[in-house]
Amino acid sequence: MAEKATYQGVELIRQTELEVRTIERERSGTSWTRNEKYDKDGYYVVKDLYNPEELYHPLPRERGLLRYRSRDVSRYDHEPVERQVGGSLSRYSHPQYLRAHNAVRKKIEKIIGRKLYNTYFYDRFYLSGQDLDKHIDRAACEISVSIHISTNLPDNLKDWPFKIKTPDVYTDKKKSSILVPGEEHSVVLNPGDGVIYKGHERPHWRDAMPFPKKKWFRKDTTEYYYHQIFFHYVLQDGKHAHCAWDKAQQ
Ligand SMILES: [Fe+2]
Repeated sequence: MAEKATYQGVELIRQTELEVRTIERERSGTSWTRNEKYDKDGYYVVKDLYNPEELYHPLPRERGLLRYRSRDVSRYDHEPVERQVGGSLSRYSHPQYLRAHNAVRKKIEKIIGRKLYNTYFYDRFYLSGQDLDKHIDRAACEISVSIHISTNLPDNLKDWPFKIKTPDVYTDKKKSSILVPGEEHSVVLNPGDGVIYKGHERPHWRDAMPFPKKKWFRKDTTEYYYHQIFFHYVLQDGKHAHCAWDKAQQ
């Protein structure tokens, strides 16, 4: 059996290649919209989706997972290890983003031509060397958007791509076999740009975040980060509408 991935002794959440392929086949094409390109590719890039200055937050000192349960930013539960990206910092429901969750929903409804319910949101600070393992998300992520907020990576490294696999084309409705395999696409975002994607259908991931070269003559103690926020939604008349406001929690 393959060795389990851990970070500081805590088991990380991982899906095997086989699990990803099986889930992908099961769910492919289940959440249709009125945006042809979005349905064909499983993702859609929107330039300047939201003002990055409104989303900006400096790199906090904590690492792990913070859960906010009210509008009070000083109160949160803290787990020391974020189990999807070990060593990163993720924050569930940070009050700074409550307004944007609604505002972005309205923009996406126009782009895909269907009404949505909010499910949940979180933001993550990735650090150099960290990657996002290939995975497919739970039902509350039926319609997801990932917006780039900020990074302090130097210009030659700041285009750190989000990767996603486009849908396979099957021979028939039963998906008996693949006629045209999907492709791996890379998406580069500037601050404020967003990628809308079918988080519950499409495999997506990030390769390791780069390390800037250190200058031998200068002591560089900078901690490099890449800050991203994820807003999640479900279709109001879709099969996952029960996940509205993340009540189902799966
Ligand atoms: Fe994801």
